[in-house]
Amino acid sequence: MLARLVRVSRTPCSLRTRTSLSPARRLSAMATQSSADRSNLIPFSSRLKEGRALAEDVWSIFNAANLPADCINLGQGYMNFAPPAWVREQAEEALRSVTANHYSHPKGRMRLRQAIKDVYSPQFGRELDVEQNILVTSGANEGQYSVFTAFLEDGDEVIMFEPFFDQYLPSVTFNGGKPVYVPLHPPSHDLAHATSDDWTIDLAELRRAVTPKTKMIILNTPHNPVGKVFTRDELEGIAAVAEEFNLLVMSDEVYESLVFDGKEHVRIANIPGMWDRTVTVCSAGKTFAATGWRVGYLIGPQSIIKPTLAATTRIVFCSNSPMQEAVAGGLELAPKHDFYATQLREYTARRNILCEAFDQLGLKYSQPQGSYFVLLDISDVKFPEDYAFPDSVKGRGRDFRACWFIALEIGVSTIPVSEFYCEEHASIGEAYARFAFCKDEDTLRAAVERLQGLKKYIQKP
Ligand SMILES: Cc1ncc(COP(=O)(O)O)c(C=O)c1O
Repeated sequence: MLARLVRVSRTPCSLRTRTSLSPARRLSAMATQSSADRSNLIPFSSRLKEGRALAEDVWSIFNAANLPADCINLGQGYMNFAPPAWVREQAEEALRSVTANHYSHPKGRMRLRQAIKDVYSPQFGRELDVEQNILVTSGANEGQYSVFTAFLEDGDEVIMFEPFFDQYLPSVTFNGGKPVYVPLHPPSHDLAHATSDDWTIDLAELRRAVTPKTKMIILNTPHNPVGKVFTRDELEGIAAVAEEFNLLVMSDEVYESLVFDGKEHVRIANIPGMWDRTVTVCSAGKTFAATGWRVGYLIGPQSIIKPTLAATTRIVFCSNSPMQEAVAGGLELAPKHDFYATQLREYTARRNILCEAFDQLGLKYSQPQGSYFVLLDISDVKFPEDYAFPDSVKGRGRDFRACWFIALEIGVSTIPVSEFYCEEHASIGEAYARFAFCKDEDTLRAAVERLQGLKKYIQKP
């Protein structure tokens, strides 16, 4: 009826007198319409059905609102502490100025691009050009989205290693891409002390995943949620596949400054021949404990940055201006505050608090060599299958039920890892719960104390 009304109202005046409803009938039709169900008046795009964008995702299930109020949140990967005071001061200063409160150049504010150039040129072993090689984005997420918009044609395949950061999936499918999954292989459950190095890639499997439609490989090192820092050998293997099949590599390195135990963070862009086909993704939110500021940046050759700039300009136009200034200040002042080394020490201590607790409990886990996540092997945690699980977790993997049980009975929330797999490979993830240690030490110690309560649910085979 509404459609008919709209059509009628578009009829030229001369005809309308003959065909339109009288004002009284029109009002009555509208009244009928408004009493009908209007909650789904406008159909939404079918693209939301892909990429699990409409599915009840793990974040809404394991949301603070669904869990006991005093549950300690080691689920979500954001910090429970503020950015360093000297970085916050830069933000305050920016807010007091005039220009930093207004639009920035879509490439990013010059002060920030210059700071990125100064920090990263030595790391990439080349003089980065602030006009051609650096693009500031609204967090790493939007930078990645813009790369997909700039490079994917409908039906192009994008290879991602599982477990994968869940945002990749809708970002790829919204842009017409088709995700193709290659799992990392977990350590054997029998291994006494696994590290994230024991999660391995099978290069033959990667090669088999390539088809004539493959356009891109997404790499994530240091890895969320495994904590794996890809070795030079592994990266050379991936690079060889990219080179052979002419693939773009999107290297998500948002945890670049969290690499533990003296392990080397190798950038795939620095492997010979790879600069021209690699875009490196960074996040100031991760680096400066400022995930809500939404500042990220891309580094790469002009051939990748220029089309991505065209996309990002039409998606957001520019990123948050005052926070760009603050991040520029952060990068400039970091050496003076010995920031990276201090932060690494703090995160190492946080990681160790959790890992020592798992050792005491006798539970297996993969000691992460990067990022701020630990995967705990929950196969030996037994819970009553008839526990009062909500429907949202009942239909999901064992890990969903285990994490729900741990949250309610132990009071520590974590994230089930099967969420980061496609259906076909979800059983690999079902053995793990992800603990985030981007939390202050007191919170971690309180969580560790509660985790002692797990003892009575541990049953070894
Ligand atoms: C692997 C990975 N990439 C990208 C992001 C998003 O970063 P940003 O907050 O800068 O968008 C995250 C955040 O959790 C992440 O874990």
